Amino acid sequence: MTINHPANLKHDKLRAWVEEMAALCQPDSVHWCDGSQKEYDELCAQMVQSGTFIKLDEKKRPNSFLAFSDPSDVARVEDRTYICSVDKNDAGPTNNWMDPAEMHGIMDKLFDGCMRGRTMYVIPFSMGPLGSHIAQIGVEITDSPYVVVNMRIMTRMGSAVIDVLGEDGDFVPAMHTVGAPLEPGQQDVPWPCNPTVKYIVHFPEERSIWSYGSGYGGNALLGKKCLALRIASVMARDEGWLAEHMLILGVEDPQGAKSYVAAAFPSACGKTNFAMLIPPASFEGWKVTTVGDDIAWIKLGQDGRLHAINPEAGYFGVAPGTSEKTNPNAMLACSRDTIFTNVALTPDGDVWWEGMTKTPPAQAIDWQRKEWTPDSGRKAAHPNARFTAPASNNPAIDPAWEDPAGVPIAAFIFGGRRSNTVPLIMQATNWVHGVYIAATMGSETTAAAFGQMGVVRRDPFAMLPFAGYHMADYFDHWLDFGRTIPNPPRIFSVNWFRTDKDGHFAWPGFGENMRVLKWIVERAHDRGAAVESPIGWMPRYEDLDWTGLDFSREQFNEIMSVDRDQWKQEILNHEELFIRLYDQLPREMLFQKELLLSSLWRSPEHWDPGV
Ligand code: OXD
Ligand code: MN
Repeated sequence: MTINHPANLKHDKLRAWVEEMAALCQPDSVHWCDGSQKEYDELCAQMVQSGTFIKLDEKKRPNSFLAFSDPSDVARVEDRTYICSVDKNDAGPTNNWMDPAEMHGIMDKLFDGCMRGRTMYVIPFSMGPLGSHIAQIGVEITDSPYVVVNMRIMTRMGSAVIDVLGEDGDFVPAMHTVGAPLEPGQQDVPWPCNPTVKYIVHFPEERSIWSYGSGYGGNALLGKKCLALRIASVMARDEGWLAEHMLILGVEDPQGAKSYVAAAFPSACGKTNFAMLIPPASFEGWKVTTVGDDIAWIKLGQDGRLHAINPEAGYFGVAPGTSEKTNPNAMLACSRDTIFTNVALTPDGDVWWEGMTKTPPAQAIDWQRKEWTPDSGRKAAHPNARFTAPASNNPAIDPAWEDPAGVPIAAFIFGGRRSNTVPLIMQATNWVHGVYIAATMGSETTAAAFGQMGVVRRDPFAMLPFAGYHMADYFDHWLDFGRTIPNPPRIFSVNWFRTDKDGHFAWPGFGENMRVLKWIVERAHDRGAAVESPIGWMPRYEDLDWTGLDFSREQFNEIMSVDRDQWKQEILNHEELFIRLYDQLPREMLFQKELLLSSLWRSPEHWDPGV
């Protein structure tokens, strides 16, 4: 097969790799993606023809499409995700591992002829603004046009990336196939995938990715979780920077002073909502702007501060629960130019999902392509249904979101979903304590994700499924990183999800989180008052701004309270994680735990910030 390489391709290694992969995968043809609007439009039109895409009503949702996936291919597959480091111990006990030679053998067999009957697309992409010293380049090879158009929204993709690569620039090779070759004359299906065989594989030493069998989300859009977190975390460890599962937002006060914070939350904790927070009306003159909603790459700048970029260019947001009330900016971001996956189709050619409006449509086509009515007893949208929307559609986008130098980070925030124990807000006493808080953060499972409700799943740094190496070495990297910075950002813990005696959320959340964010920003600049609690620094009632919200001192003290017995149990649970990681666990974690225990030991049974 002759391959039409682009005229600006000067990179012999890349050319050779593409030819080698074409020979392995045996596609009918090879298409180098130039990233143009024309190419995007043609691929979308082709997918409308093939039944993969439904074009939405041009007036209601301009330039937007809907895809329904195969019911077997709806989410990331963590149990099929591998970190194939040379040494098993480098992957650590929280990752699946296989010997790289053995895994390469499996990949070579699976990829042999895997693209027969299909087009092989070559996607050069940049994670981060083109040419930024913090950015990284990847090249994804895929047989899925759905992946191509999603990658055009989620990354900077196409011809310009080939120029940045030049003759010998570094790139991460990322192989992807849906694992569904077509025999001659065989009719394709709207969502090809392999129903039984799936592998999401990372070779950290080679810095390469191989993904087989799934066309969905992080399994297939390899720039996101695979490159920007699993491979990048290894690069970051080796090169002394941070690749984190964090949103980045800007806070501007009425005087125009700007601060940026980065925040880590496990999946399904309202991360996109926090990244796009709209301050309550009473916070006149305050503005929150979005730099990123999922991933942050952070390097020490020459000014001694940490600078962060969002490596992505779009949002791959969870649709269910997103509404005008919970996140108007996200609703605007996906009001046009958006690809929806597994939401419902309304009779007027628009989309709907659970939580989007109070009143559901009288009828719809659900994500399984079936007729749906509100009393059909099924969800219209899959709980993990997504919108892929350009970041530039977000009206609250930060003016510096594409600054190649990144934005300076004043604070790190860590939060999980906890109905009890963890207070609304606290500040770590120092960097090591902050690393401890992040390392031991956990989230209560929601039924959709893990079957059983209310069990605390430890998710250190919200990186459990995304760290490309031993989790304990990752803690050590953080500890070490803090030692190299003259004045490290302050570290905070938040919990929007405490419940009252009746099981109702005790904190209104959403825009009201601004009250907490304001205190964080003040404290990050060593202003704002706090008291010492048994587990960290906390605001008293009078230290937060309550204008415009009816929230009593008693209510506040209740969600800030530290219950000694609950905390003893909590520490026992930390112990469980530490025993799992014991071989490499930094000693600081153990000493910090002892310190925490000893301050709880003589604390009141029920501590709160008081009157
Ligand atoms: C995501 C996730 O999709 O964290 O961002 O699962
Ligand atoms: Mn995420």
